[in-house]
Amino acid sequence: MKISPFKLERYFAKYEFNAPHLLCCSDCESMSIGDLLKLGQVSEATLSNVWLGYTESQGDPALREEIAQLYSGVNPEQVLVHSGAEEPIFNFMNAILEPGDHVIVLYPCYQSLTEIAESIGCEVTYWKLENCPDWKVDFDIFKDQIRPNTKLVIVNTPHNPTGFQFTKEEFKTLSDLSNEHGFFIFSDEVYRYLEYDENDRLPSICDINENGLALGVMSKTFGLAGLRIGWIATQNKEIYHKLAAYKDYTTICNSAPSEFLSTLALKNKEKLIKRNLGIVNNNLSLLNQFFDQYQDLFRWSMPKAGPIAFPELRRGEITKFCHDLVTKAGVLLLPGTLYDKSSNNFRIGFGRTTMEQSLNRLEEYLSATL
Ligand SMILES: Cc1ncc(COP(=O)(O)O)c(C=O)c1O
Repeated sequence: MKISPFKLERYFAKYEFNAPHLLCCSDCESMSIGDLLKLGQVSEATLSNVWLGYTESQGDPALREEIAQLYSGVNPEQVLVHSGAEEPIFNFMNAILEPGDHVIVLYPCYQSLTEIAESIGCEVTYWKLENCPDWKVDFDIFKDQIRPNTKLVIVNTPHNPTGFQFTKEEFKTLSDLSNEHGFFIFSDEVYRYLEYDENDRLPSICDINENGLALGVMSKTFGLAGLRIGWIATQNKEIYHKLAAYKDYTTICNSAPSEFLSTLALKNKEKLIKRNLGIVNNNLSLLNQFFDQYQDLFRWSMPKAGPIAFPELRRGEITKFCHDLVTKAGVLLLPGTLYDKSSNNFRIGFGRTTMEQSLNRLEEYLSATL
């Protein structure tokens, strides 16, 4: 299998650990193991007793129990734990797709959501988000894209990079269309629970559709990317077993300390979500003020959920702008060209406590250069 480089990840590999001001990260503020143990009121001795043998390949039962509680329609036996969210994306597509299958992907998107299907030899159609003035989807276009051989529809909601979120009615329409046409829905829900208004939270696809697969992870909403724990939840037994069998060739089972710490984190999910949503909301009000002040330079579409947004640069070329900014001021933004060649947008991240400082640095740069 030949696969093209993951542009966004290669960009991060170049800058993430040397640019002083990261203003485009998609995860929420993290914490140390010590802080997580304190949050969960668990002693260090309990952690040091964790056994370092192989773990159950489905995922530790206690962890699956906690994950299942994030949903209303699946039980722990319908949860398959993986390493991060990247592994289940890779495994799922390789386990179910064949060359020539037709796949529709909400676009722009996190690259692996299109790349893996393309590398397998599928025909991939992009269902493009429109920015007018907020991000939205057109279901008439989508219906026209469905073909007799459409096997899979891939969506990501809340969305990376735009902060778009389907409405409940739209999500139901998508699910109804899957029932009518027989395609699977792979719903990347790694930012779920970061809706600014709780009423905007969607039911998970695994709760409402028997052919729906929900992707979740500890990295984003919970801010614990270093645990590398993610999962797929689905009611579809056949797909579940295919996925479990595929995983024997990638990671077999998960890291025992990570499973222990993820279980602890999910037992305390309300505290973590509250903390991270607090950071996001606080940063969003700073961003609203900032973009209000720079309306002539940037077009800001307020996201609906999640820790990232995708504003447009109105003057100049985005790759040059981002390059100059990181070189002269050490502020890292992600040029939209890493998602879509023709984009003049950039990804901004606001899930971290350092955002205000990075934004001030961006303002200093703009005052010096404009
Ligand atoms: C939409 C989306 N899906 C999947 C992933 C992969 O998550 P992880 O890095 O935790 O494997 C990311 C990471 O940025 C993402 O934004």
